[in-house]
Amino acid sequence: MRLIFLLVGCAHGYQTTHLPHRAPQRASTPQCLDVVVPSVAKKAREEGLRKVPRGEKDERPEYMKSKCNMYPRKVDVMNQIEGFVQEQIDAGLLLDQDKAWQPHDFLPDSEKPTEEWFDEVREFRKMAEDLPDDLLLVLIGDMITEEALPTYLTLLNTLEGIDDPTGAVDTAFGRWSRQWTAEENRHGDLLNRYLYLSGRVNMRAIEETIMRLISSGFDPDTRCDPYRGFIYTSFQERATKISHGNVGKLLGQAGDKWGSRICAKIAGDEARHEKAYQSFVTQVLSIDPDGAIISYADMMKTQIVMPAEKMTDGKNPNLYNDFARVAQDLTVYTGVDYASIMEHLNELWKIEHVTGLSPEAQEAQEFLARLPARFRKLAERQEKAFARTPREPREWSWLHGRVL
Ligand SMILES: [Fe+2]
Ligand SMILES: [Fe+2]
Repeated sequence: MRLIFLLVGCAHGYQTTHLPHRAPQRASTPQCLDVVVPSVAKKAREEGLRKVPRGEKDERPEYMKSKCNMYPRKVDVMNQIEGFVQEQIDAGLLLDQDKAWQPHDFLPDSEKPTEEWFDEVREFRKMAEDLPDDLLLVLIGDMITEEALPTYLTLLNTLEGIDDPTGAVDTAFGRWSRQWTAEENRHGDLLNRYLYLSGRVNMRAIEETIMRLISSGFDPDTRCDPYRGFIYTSFQERATKISHGNVGKLLGQAGDKWGSRICAKIAGDEARHEKAYQSFVTQVLSIDPDGAIISYADMMKTQIVMPAEKMTDGKNPNLYNDFARVAQDLTVYTGVDYASIMEHLNELWKIEHVTGLSPEAQEAQEFLARLPARFRKLAERQEKAFARTPREPREWSWLHGRVL
């Protein structure tokens, strides 16, 4: 719920690290990892990085190990579900890379002879010509969110037990994270090119916002905890599916079949990602219901932080909330959606029917069972308040200063 829950804001401070001014030390000859640690690296690759049997000494060099020191129990659970994750990947959880759609499939074909390409671009621009500014604005915000993908991969790699300490680690979680990123990468690419070709928006202002957002990062309060990470992504993928799906429908209604197809295609990816992350949490729940339920309740107490909440164009200090309000007004993503996502997760994970919990987890379970109804009531009350108080018009840098 971007508005109810994100207006609360975020009070995380930042530290600046001052590095000494000196030229980086480089080896005079390139060294590959196998040269540095020949036998151990090879052995680790052959055995799979997570396959050190319990009780045996882990002989991998320190730099190749996950920083598994805060949540040993949870890391153990991640090891236990890794086989499941690999099975899901093998069964089609990730796209076949030979057949996966690419942004090029949904845009005017630049390989055509120039005049033909111009004709396609003309048709493309004609469709975007009459799109209302509020719809464009939501599309821009969604595109900027997708373009901050480096931040999300960084997040995955903070999670103990599923991280990728080498950058190319040969585990199911490493494969998942990298290909998930590769799939997501097409979303920002495609929406970016769509908006660029539409000619309706200020691309430079948008690009500046992307640069600032990636520089700012974001803290979803997952605390390196893989349970919290997968609960967060379970929620967030569904939220993006809803948002892209609704924007696609509105573009279709406005007569833009290109834009509509693009958003529907992206929403399809988000739906598959949502299922994947939710299935990981289902596995965790079956092994460690206490830990999973306590983490879920704890995440929901502070609410789900939206990934682009730190977006800024350097002009409007309230940019994210203003964007979220437009999305709410267009019913692209609303407080009621936030409540419905939680209802969905509670039902899918059968939260109310989990048995054998500790007293602390039982308390968390009761809290979770009550929460969606509370959220829904709050969201409905907020909707009425918004209906009474139309948003204040703002100048939007993304739209060349047009007021909305
Ligand atoms: Fe995406
Ligand atoms: Fe996604």
